[in-house]
Parts: sequence; C-alpha cells; structure tokens
Amino acid sequence: MRTLFRDPTCVFPGETVRSNVLVEDGRIVSVDAARSTRADEVIDASGLHMLPGVIDDQVHFREPGFTDREDLHSGSVACARGGVTSFLEMPNTNPPATTVARLHEKLELAASKSVVNYGFYIGATPDNIEELNRAERTPGIKIFIGSSTGELLVDEQAALAAIFAETALPICAHCEDEATVRVNAERFAGEREVAVHSRIRSREAAVIATRRAIELAVRHEHRFHVLHVSTADEIPLIREAGELVTAEVCPHHLLFHVDDYARLGARVQVNPSIKTRDDNEALWEALLDGDIDLVATDHAPHKLSEKNRSYPGSPSGVPAVENSLMLLLDLVNAGHCSLQDVARWMCENPARVWNIPRKGRIEAGFDADLVLVDMNAEHTILDANQVTKCGWSPWHGRRVTGVPVGTWVRGRRVYWHGEFDTEQRGGEIEFDRGETG
Ligand code: DOR
Repeated sequence: MRTLFRDPTCVFPGETVRSNVLVEDGRIVSVDAARSTRADEVIDASGLHMLPGVIDDQVHFREPGFTDREDLHSGSVACARGGVTSFLEMPNTNPPATTVARLHEKLELAASKSVVNYGFYIGATPDNIEELNRAERTPGIKIFIGSSTGELLVDEQAALAAIFAETALPICAHCEDEATVRVNAERFAGEREVAVHSRIRSREAAVIATRRAIELAVRHEHRFHVLHVSTADEIPLIREAGELVTAEVCPHHLLFHVDDYARLGARVQVNPSIKTRDDNEALWEALLDGDIDLVATDHAPHKLSEKNRSYPGSPSGVPAVENSLMLLLDLVNAGHCSLQDVARWMCENPARVWNIPRKGRIEAGFDADLVLVDMNAEHTILDANQVTKCGWSPWHGRRVTGVPVGTWVRGRRVYWHGEFDTEQRGGEIEFDRGETG
C-alpha cells in the first residue's frame, strides 16, 4: 500500500518546507517525492502542516482495573484524535504492572485494543528489583517517590538507592516527597477547600524529591527522567545534572496556576499540584532553553462525579491526551514558540529520551506515524466533544486556533476530519538498548 501526501508543509528539524511525502508499508520512503508519483491513495494536504506523530511518554489508561474511567481502546482513540501516535503508559493500574508477567499482559491487551502504538513502564516496589532486571519490553522503570493514584510507593531512601544502584533500565519518577506531604496533610487536615492541595503537595515536596532522585542518579550514573516538573526551583537541579537527567512538563503545569482553583476547583487538582504564575513562566522558559526536554500529558482520567467529591476525597489528575497538541499549536499561533519547537518537544525528544528508533521525525526510513494539522482552524474544547471515556476536560470552554485534522499510524489512517477507523491497531514500541540499557 503506497500513500502520497501531496503538498503538506512538513515540519523537519532544520526547516519547514512544502514537500510531497510518500509512505509505503508503514514506513516513510521519500520526503521529496514528485507530485505525480503513483500511489494507491493520494491525500490532498495542501494548506495543512505535517508533523511527526506525537509521542506522549506519560499516560494513565486504567486497564486493567478501572476501565469505567478509560481503557486501552478508548484512551488510544483519544490519542488518535489529538495527533498522538505512540503512548507510554504508567504502571499504577490494578493490579499494578510490577512484574514481567503483568507487563506482558498489558502488551497483549494493547495489541488487541490500541489504535496507536504502545509501550508500558514497569513499576518499582520496595522489593521487586529482580522483576525490574528481567523486564525487556519496556521503556523503563517508574518510581512513585510520592504516592499518587494507586498503591505504588518507594519513599524509603535505602529502597530507592537500591533501585538506582542495582538496575540497568532507564528510570523515571514522580517526585513529591512523601514525608513532607504527610506533615502538610496533617497540618491542613479538616480543610475542605481544594486550593489547599497546593499547600499540602507543596513546592518543597517537589523540590526535595527531585533533589533526592537526581543525587541518586548522579551517584550511580543512572539515566533518569524527571516526570511532570511543576516548580521553577527544580529547573537548576535538572540543568546541573547534565545529560544524565532529562525532564518533562505537562500542559496543565504550563497553563494553570493556584488562582485557577477558584474557577475550576478539583478539575485542576493534580499531582504534583499546580503552582504559581511565576512557575508557569519559568517552566515555559526552561522548555525554550532546552533545560526541560519534552511535553507530555500525564493523562489521568477520573470521573467528574469523583472530581465533585469534597476535598480531600476528590482524586488528582486531568485527561489531556486529545488536547495537548492543539493547546501547543495555539501557543504557536499566539507567537510563543514555533512549530519546530513543538515537534522537538512532543515528537523528536520523547523518541531520543526513551531510545525509540525510527520515530519522532519525518524522514525516509522512519515509521509513517504522521499527523496533519490545520493551523488556521478554530476549535472550542468542550466536555461534550471529548473522546476520552471520562468525558470532560480541564480546558472546557477554551478556544484554540490550530487543530490536528488527520492521524496516521504506521501508514494507516486512524483519524481524518472527525472520522475514526477504530479497527486499526498500532504496534508495540521498540526500545534501543544500545548504550543506556
Ligand atoms: O494527578 C495525577 N494523577 N498524578 C499522578 O501522578 C497520577 C495520576 C493518576 O493516575 O490519576
């Protein structure tokens, strides 16, 4: 099957140019094909931009365990809507993915249900190093240094140090210091205003945990990725650690701050908590400077009925996988960054950070994971038009300019102008273990 994309403006690492892209058998074969190249299918992409498919390295799709909130099919269809062609999913499912057997169960489920490409982290516990060392079909190890949704937690220093010392896979962590959070939670016990969430899951909690983890990574020369950075104060720690340590930021930590609790309540309750407007700005600067490598969503679907419980009964997390790219495209249109920045943060750098071969760029020989976006289209994000099973968005009511209109996974169209092909299946993501493994 040969598909010719005619006339898209392609976002390459070095330049953005109009070009014809030819795809065959799931791979890109040419990025400067002749207009008249013969193909089984021709997609008229004039007036549209082509980006590599987004790789979201932090999602929670709730399967197995909580499939009334999301499952691997519904989450992957939401990905397709948002231009996300590959996801890496977190281990805090039920049961949690803390053994090789459970990791393989998830891979099998995804093979039968996911319309986009998939990969799964293996979760660390205080005593599963043997399993962590047996796992191969995974991007790496996830550690919850602070507890969040689910039971996973490794907060004792000795257990944490052992994971950095005795395992080889790359590690990523949720960095909020459990002891600090517990002391704060006691201090504010009885407080029902959700805004107190940012005082309980405080700036100090984030900074202490990020410092602890980075110190261990440096001491043991272990590749480490800081998930969802939320404060300005973590940035110098990440920068000073050099290439060993990479980091990401989520759209909600770039766009929401503590004043938003008054308007949005638990809809913006997340772990790590949202911080101040100054933090939003510092995180944005760090992305532009390259101190933070990538943008990922931490897509964490909870039902609105759960979110509506009074604090602290309301769960933490926001769905975002279908909106992240359009939110960033809107920032491009507002003049805050370029399309090349977006492709670097959402496509190329996730592939580099997780050693994913042949993804993240529009280049001959690469997988044909592609997204077409209309930079002039306007769209209002509404709860009612969300694809995620949980059916709401913290950005309800936000108007964006710049919208993904078509998504191809390994050369096959899964979304095009409002229509899905939900019969398509993505593939298992490979990880290059060359140097870092
Ligand atoms: O807000 C969050 N929700 N942060 C996490 O780290 C976990 C997530 C979830 O799974 O609900």
